[in-house]
Amino acid sequence: MEAAPCTVLFHSTLDDPSEWIPRLSTLLPNETIRAWPDEGDPANIDLAVLWTQPPGGLERYPRLSFVQSLGAGVNQLELDVLPPRLRVARMVDPAMGPMMAEYCLTAVLRYHRRFDAHERSQRAGRWDFIPPVSPRHFPVGVMGVGELGAVTATALAAHGFPVRGWSSRPRSLSGVTCFAGHSELPAFLDGLAALVCLLPLTAQTRGILNAALFDRLPNGAYLINAGRGAHLVEADLLAALASGRLAGATLDVLHEEPPPSDHPFWRHERVLLTPHVAALADPDGAASLVADNIMRFRRSEPVLNEVDRMRGY
Ligand code: NAP
Ligand code: GLV
Repeated sequence: MEAAPCTVLFHSTLDDPSEWIPRLSTLLPNETIRAWPDEGDPANIDLAVLWTQPPGGLERYPRLSFVQSLGAGVNQLELDVLPPRLRVARMVDPAMGPMMAEYCLTAVLRYHRRFDAHERSQRAGRWDFIPPVSPRHFPVGVMGVGELGAVTATALAAHGFPVRGWSSRPRSLSGVTCFAGHSELPAFLDGLAALVCLLPLTAQTRGILNAALFDRLPNGAYLINAGRGAHLVEADLLAALASGRLAGATLDVLHEEPPPSDHPFWRHERVLLTPHVAALADPDGAASLVADNIMRFRRSEPVLNEVDRMRGY
């Protein structure tokens, strides 16, 4: 039996509603899709498709029972303050893995082929010859080998880099040496030329990119953070760059996006900032994933990629 029509609220500060609403309306012809702030009576909202909570929070919607996140990460939904009855699913868009892999491979290659140093030499008017090294002498570690990290680690390995992956639970990935849990973190970090962070932001991972971790890396290692800004202790990165412990950092995510105009990262010659562009859900394909999950929820079937609210990802 078909369920009665319901109302779906869409809210995002990143995703363009004009890209999503027509697609969702076509895919869910029996539901009413409303783009915040044109939400109508909050008491009529049943489901939501969100990047972040709309202003005023989700308590305003007494009937809301399911949230489909527009992000692969869900920390920005502030799970801790969501009503306990709410079920949440995250975005797993197969197009995002290759996009993230491309971003991380670009950043790693820039360091491996010393483009960062060549850019500095050129600006200083110097013709510095730095002999290239084989990728096999440039070990790369990927923190978080889930949906995005696994594709990224595999792409780096296919390029010839020795690749290590680190996760919470033991994993096995072809061509990647896998480590798990805090006890194996030192072995994972030991000797890495570049460290890529693709972790979700949780109570366990907040501030994990800190001085103690940098001290386990060899001098002159590189950091690439495309997880979340709050993984990084920014003052510790600045100190590690000043001491030479780290030779450079590529940051796609920051505590504050964009950072304030006087933030030292803006003009730091060893920091490359990108504006949270590493991987985004593409509405062309992802709208049908969202619609499918909404229909699953409506039919009381298991939804895909449900977030474990206790674990936080
Ligand atoms: P995922 O599939 O849930 O994978 C998360 C990985 O992190 C898993 O391997 C997980 O281990 C590991 N992990 C979680 N907590 C850990 C801990 N305490 N210690 C060690 N490993 C831990 O997530 P995903 O889809 O790959 O996305 C990862 C993150 O990327 C998102 O949460 C988001 O923050 C970020 N992201 C950024 C962008 C961007 O544009 N910059 C785009 C999309 C996503 P287990 O396998 O053992 O669970
Ligand atoms: C983007 O940062 C995402 O979590 O999808």
